[in-house]
Parts: sequence; structure tokens; C-alpha cells
Amino acid sequence: MGFMKMGFVLGVLGFMITLLDDRLQLCVAAKSKNVHYYDWVLKETNYTRLCSTKSILTVNGSFPGPTILVHKGDTAYVKVHNQGLYGVTIHWHGVKQPRNPWSDGPENITQCPIKPGSSFTYEVIFSDEEGTLWWHAHSDWTRATVHGAIIILPALGKTYPFPTPYAEETIILASWFKGDVMAIIEEALATGADPNVSDAFTINGQPGDLYDCSNETTYRIAVKYGKTYLFRIINAVMNEEHFFGIAKHNLTVVAMDGAYIKPITTDYIMITPGQTMDVLVTAKQTPGRYHIASTAFVDADVAFDNSTTTAILQYSNIAKYTNTSSPTLPDYNDKAAAENFTNRLRSLASRDHPINVPKKITKRLFITVSVNQLVCPNASCDGPDGNRLSASLNNVSFVTPSIDILQAYYRNLNGVFTKNFPDEPTYIFNFTGDVGNNTLYPSLGTKVKLINYGDEVEIVYQGTNLMSAENHPMHLHGFSFYLVGNGTGNFDKKTSPQSYNLVDPPKVNTIGVPKNGWATIRFLADNPGVWFMHCHLERHASWGMNTVIIVKNGPTKQTSILPPPPYLPPCSKS
Ligand code: C2O
Ligand code: CU
Repeated sequence: MGFMKMGFVLGVLGFMITLLDDRLQLCVAAKSKNVHYYDWVLKETNYTRLCSTKSILTVNGSFPGPTILVHKGDTAYVKVHNQGLYGVTIHWHGVKQPRNPWSDGPENITQCPIKPGSSFTYEVIFSDEEGTLWWHAHSDWTRATVHGAIIILPALGKTYPFPTPYAEETIILASWFKGDVMAIIEEALATGADPNVSDAFTINGQPGDLYDCSNETTYRIAVKYGKTYLFRIINAVMNEEHFFGIAKHNLTVVAMDGAYIKPITTDYIMITPGQTMDVLVTAKQTPGRYHIASTAFVDADVAFDNSTTTAILQYSNIAKYTNTSSPTLPDYNDKAAAENFTNRLRSLASRDHPINVPKKITKRLFITVSVNQLVCPNASCDGPDGNRLSASLNNVSFVTPSIDILQAYYRNLNGVFTKNFPDEPTYIFNFTGDVGNNTLYPSLGTKVKLINYGDEVEIVYQGTNLMSAENHPMHLHGFSFYLVGNGTGNFDKKTSPQSYNLVDPPKVNTIGVPKNGWATIRFLADNPGVWFMHCHLERHASWGMNTVIIVKNGPTKQTSILPPPPYLPPCSKS
């Protein structure tokens, strides 16, 4: 056999071995990683709450929507049929979607909306997430009613890193508006004024017994004396962070944002929109009825919903009429109570659940987070001073393009976005002091930040005292990140990092940047794609408190964005 021929045979053999190897891996994978299929119909459905009936957008007619239940590392295919009145997209909040931004969902960031009468199949790829996450619509304010839980159980054959609870229950906190949510945000954006606040908060779709016409339908959780329950709490509220507690019962928080933490025993939690917390509760009080309650934490001078939603924790075998005792939650503006809780969060960081905090930072961003104004001619708007309310990151108010950024980036289309989101504010001022009118008026643009694959990234978010300073729950798609530090006042390059926790910082996807303070996060940029970053207070996102981080492809196919799916919803302007 000639040398050449031999080489050819070896080459073919090598090719076959590679193929076999791939197949083998697939076989092995198929045993432990399952595939799930869901069929969802987006449609208008009548719901009656607070004494009145209105039509809301739902998935399969339910509010909150259906639960996605998987094991760690599974994949879910969700076919979404839109039978509603307008275009919608769905986002899998906290699911990293390795190399797969195509199914991430934010409207006109990674895809154009699924138009009424059409459908789109999301491929939701789970990787290291474990615990609770959630999904929600990511188009205008549709997420108010289009959301649900994602439960990620340990991989088959593995167990929780805490004693197996007797039973589990999902608790979804949400906002209820008597009016039409899409009309509320449209009107606010047209006039420049604050959008209406919600009329109630809900627990699993029910406002609870403190609201009109809601007593009978209050959500109830039956418990048995002596048993321990796992409550998966999701904050799907639109515009307020929340304090949550159960009368006379301690909460032991064991996981957050789809990752385990060192158990925290507390009588209340502070949970921001976007966050999830897994909490153990043992029923060991005098058998009776106990209120589960959730109410806003707002440490700013802004309009908010100051009502309280309740559910009832009810012991089995109790006399028919017992009083329901209520928890004492911190006052709505108790900043210290919020911070005391948040500062206790630590990753579990065990042998089975290790963490890996970046220590050699190769890319640094310093981002101011502000509420702003846009000038209206002749003070013709309904916001402060006749201006329009706005919001920004590094004083750039994000403008959503009409063609999705992912497509424009992947296909090299010009004129959709620019690559000049600044690494730090272009104008330095006393961010948390007397800010005067400095940077009150932001610039407008679709500015994104490109970073290299493999960069060890640090972002310092700096809250500012512009307009009304407040806590901002910042969320990044495509990653979980470590919250390595936070503090009040201006971030100081020398002294602030001295307080960093690089040992066991919590690994999360949404963090509250303290009012007039700062927060530092770190992550490894190992997920190539186009990833939205924004405040999870919906009015701030609507005003432009957003940007996009593009992680470039790495050197190999395995470190590059997956090819696009065969069908993507068309953009009206492409
Ligand atoms: Cu929970 Cu951009 O989303
Ligand atoms: Cu905000």
C-alpha cells in the first residue's frame, strides 16, 4: 500500500472514529440528560380580580403560566403558538443557554417578535443551573401576566445539599393592574410621565384577603405539623422589590437564582424582581393559620404600590375557626433591613457545588445607573418640569432597534447598533452627592459592548443621586455572576475592593445595586453571544436602563455561537 493510500485510509478511519466518538457521547448523554417538549398557546383569557374582569395575555389560559420541570443539564423545546393580539417573545430568565443566544428571547435584541398567527420553537439548554429559575415574556410589559416557574432538580441520582423536604411548593409574586398593562406603558411612554402603579400584588395569581373581593380565593398552602417544606419563591413583580415573610415561621434560604447558598435563617427575605429564592420552612408552630405576606421595599421618593399580598399557611387538622396571625415585615423604606439580608448571601461553595471566582481581571467596566430626563419642547411632556422621564447606563439611554442585534451582529448588518458603549462614564462627578444637573440629560443610542471570549470581567455598577436615587435590580442574560462586593456612596478604586469577598460570593443573575451605592460583579466570559443587560424594574427598562454585552466567538467551533435555527420570526423592517 502506497504511503498516500495509507494516509487516506487512516484519515477515513480517523473520521469514522470521530463520528463514533460523537455518537457515543450522544448515547452516554442521552442516559442522564433528558429532552422535554412543551406546546404553549399565547392567548387572551378573561380573569376576575379585585371585583372586576378583564382580558389578559396568558400561556395556555393560566396565570401564572405553566411550570417547566427538568433535571440539571436537560434540554427543553418549547413551541410557542401566538394566538394573541400582538407580537411577543419569551425569555428563560437565568438559563445560560450556552452558545445559544438564538433562543434567549429579548425582543429585538436576540430575535424579532413571534407575530400573531405564527409560532416559534425555543431550544432551552440547561447547563449548571440547579434550583429555581423562571420564564417570562420579554416584549414591552407583557411579562406582567406571561410568566411561570422553571424548576431544575438535581441530576438523576443526585440529591439536594440539604435534607429532602417533605413536599415542595412554588410561590410566584406578581403585580396586578386593573387596567390593560400594554396600554399603561404605551400611555406613559407617550406622555413622558410615570406609568400607573399596580393595584395589587399577587401570590400564585391571587391578591389575598387584604384586598377587595379577594378573600375567598386567597391562596392556601396545607402543611402537616412537624414536616419541612421547600418553597420556591419567584419575584415576577413589575416595579417593586419585596419583603416576604411567614407569621411566626423562620425561613431558611438554601438557594438563589438557580445556585445553592450557605443556609440563611431569617424571619424575612428581600427579593428583587428577577430573583428567585429557595426556602425551607418547618411547620412546628401551634397548629393554626398563618399569613404568608409580601410587600414592597422602596427606599426612594417614587410612586409605588404600597399594598400587601397574602396567602395562608394552614396546618391540617385544625379547628374550623382560628385566627390568622400576620408576620411583621420591615417598613417599606427600611434600607438597612434590605441590606442586612442581602449581605448575608454566600455561595454554598462545597466540593459537590464548587465555585470559580475570576481573580485575574482582564476586562473592567464601570457603569453608572441613573434615572434621567429628556427635554420636551415647550415643556410639553407630563414628566418632571414638563420633560420626559428617561433612564440610562453610563448616561446612554438605550434605544431598542427594529432589527434584532443578534441577527445584525451575526450577519454583519450595518446601521442597527454601534460598538461604543463606554467602559466608564465619560464625565466624572460626585455620583452620590449633590449631582446638580450634571448628566441629567442622557444621550440616546443603541450602543453595545463587545468583549473577548475568555475575558475575566468585572463590572462595578454605581448608583447615582440623579432624580430620585433608588435600588436597581440589574440583570444580565447568558450568565450567572458573582456578587463580590457592595457598599454605600461612591466606589473608591483603592478602598472599596478591600471589602471584596472572593471566597464564597453568591452566584446570581440579578443583584440590587444599593440606593446611592455601588455593587461589583465578576464573571468569566465563556458564553459567546448577544446578551441583554438591564434593570429588572420594568419602568426603568422601558426608559432605557439597558445595554447589550456581546461576547465574541472563541478560537474553536466549541467556543463559538451555534448556527441559527432553521426558522426565526421575521423582523418587520428586515
Ligand atoms: Cu428577567 Cu431581560 O429579563
Ligand atoms: Cu432601575
